[in-house]
Amino acid sequence: MRKIFRDSHLEGHFAKAGYNKVPMISPDEIQHILDEMSKMRPEDEFAYNDKNRFKISYHCSFLDTNKQYKRQVHSLITKVFTPYVEKYLQDYRIINANFYVKPPHKGDFAIHQNWPILQDLEDTSVTIWCPLQDTYRENGTIQFVPGSHKILPHVEGPALPGYFKDFKQELIDRWLQPVDVKAGEATIFDDGLIHWTAKNDSDQPRIAIQILCIPKDKKPVHFVGIPDDPSRLEVVEADEDFFIEQDFEDLVGRKPEWKSLGFVPNRNRFITEQEFADLLKRGDEIRKVCYASL
Ligand SMILES: [Fe+2]
Repeated sequence: MRKIFRDSHLEGHFAKAGYNKVPMISPDEIQHILDEMSKMRPEDEFAYNDKNRFKISYHCSFLDTNKQYKRQVHSLITKVFTPYVEKYLQDYRIINANFYVKPPHKGDFAIHQNWPILQDLEDTSVTIWCPLQDTYRENGTIQFVPGSHKILPHVEGPALPGYFKDFKQELIDRWLQPVDVKAGEATIFDDGLIHWTAKNDSDQPRIAIQILCIPKDKKPVHFVGIPDDPSRLEVVEADEDFFIEQDFEDLVGRKPEWKSLGFVPNRNRFITEQEFADLLKRGDEIRKVCYASL
């Protein structure tokens, strides 16, 4: 089984809770990022982008259509954060890196698990989420359902809804817990952990950096739903360039030039809140096959 964190205390907490909160970038590094960001020119100018049909009310570099800008973001974030990836994680590398800017009083997000980037759902990719100012519930900090990682094999994707689609409001009311994160601190979480950020209800923009990391010995993939055959999912290659080159509209479908790696059975199913509660209770036991520390 894979060792994920270099530190054994962090490794143990991650296996149970699905995330860790750690110190990361310095005030000077935050200022450097903000300075570089001020020179960048995304298509949506870091503001509400109502040009997309998804009516998304925040800036996300992943969703921006200026590919040169997306490359600049990837390069800047990779440069600043690679030493911290090396410091905390055991043989992981950055595959995708983005800014998320929630304008004042906007930016509600969908509750989700991250799209799996590894073909084996028992293996572990992680996301680093690092805000550039203090974040708390009111300005849209990250919220997790602790221990919800890897309790059900499910592939969420651009056209594949989460297994919890029938009890999203209940997740907000009863299960999601906000984590206060100081500027430059970061959460590092399992991509299978259910997470969410609410609207930014402050008068200042809320800027956060999101970084997807995979084990160095693994090839990143993207799962594609097949509209006329729901019993299977297609697996396609998805390297760093894949996420820079595709627009979100592309990811909802299947472009002919994507390289197929084959097909896997579609095990997705939609559960009730009661079953979710039962799975959470048995979480450590279910996850024993995934993490060496359990
Ligand atoms: Fe996410």
